Amino acid sequence: MSAPLPMPVLGPDQVLTALRALRDRQPVRFSAFYSSQFGGVVTDPALMVLPFDDHMVHRGHGIFDTAGLVNGRIYDLEAHLDRFLVSAERSKLTLAGSRQAMREIIIRTAAASGVRDGSIRYWLSSGPGNLDLTPAAGAEPGFFVMVFGGLTYPARWYSDGLKVMTTTYPIKPPLYAVTKSTNYLPNVLMQMEAKAAGMDNGVFIDDRGFVGESSNMNIACVTADGVLRHPRFAGVLAGCTSQRLLDLAGALVTGGALPGVEVCDIPVAAARAAREMLLLGSSIKVAPVVEWDGQPIGSGSPGPVARALLALLEEDMRTGDRLIDVPY
Ligand SMILES: Cc1ncc(COP(=O)(O)O)c(C=O)c1O
Repeated sequence: MSAPLPMPVLGPDQVLTALRALRDRQPVRFSAFYSSQFGGVVTDPALMVLPFDDHMVHRGHGIFDTAGLVNGRIYDLEAHLDRFLVSAERSKLTLAGSRQAMREIIIRTAAASGVRDGSIRYWLSSGPGNLDLTPAAGAEPGFFVMVFGGLTYPARWYSDGLKVMTTTYPIKPPLYAVTKSTNYLPNVLMQMEAKAAGMDNGVFIDDRGFVGESSNMNIACVTADGVLRHPRFAGVLAGCTSQRLLDLAGALVTGGALPGVEVCDIPVAAARAAREMLLLGSSIKVAPVVEWDGQPIGSGSPGPVARALLALLEEDMRTGDRLIDVPY
């Protein structure tokens, strides 16, 4: 038997080489990363790292949010920052700076990235110091900003619609569902389960038999009476896209295309009998669901409300009053 090889103890140059090799084996589209722990931005993905003992890494004690970059402007950042602060408070995290300071860092990281279309995701972490549960004595909260290409979905989701399944995984209890923490295990497992079953995504149903949400998207329905209905935000994430669309849909009501809009509990049976079912979110925008658990939704084809809402959202993202110019 040969003697076991000694475990190499590496120096900084070797670690950097290893981190670069990791990125070479698996290239990523990350354009800029700000870390409060560095005090600045890096553009080399090999350097986009966190200390392992940050409690966001080993305990999931962190929160995040994502805003879109559209034509060199940031869309709806204030709404995403509002939710970020609410998530921080619910998670008992200390802010890494004022809202104004974090907002400024997000905008300046976007500028440093040069990216004009993509996403900006930012995190607040509990900070490093030990491997306990509660924050270490003197832990400095971390603030991180990543500018990347954004999540992309198949064109067919918009042209033909998605097929979804009811997940076998339980929905998060309300406190955790409404907090955008880095604990996405149920969401990850739901999406993996759906993909393994040949579906596009999953649907969480709550304990009372009402429609919840999807993996990283909200769900809405145009019920049999033609009304656009969205689940109450007490047990699902308060999607910035959903909230904006519920406002924008007012134009469809005024124009006569929709009899009404309502935020309410949606029983599964009402959703199964809906004319249209929609997935809503910053990354997916508005996409029609055409099949749920093997049964068609409505006609089994994308419907007019999905198309109209997508057009309203895209218009708002191009020319609305919720855009911030990035000073490239
Ligand atoms: C679980 C969950 N629900 C809903 C959404 C939709 O939220 P938003 O429209 O702000 O992207 C997201 C995405 O952030 C999410 O992760």
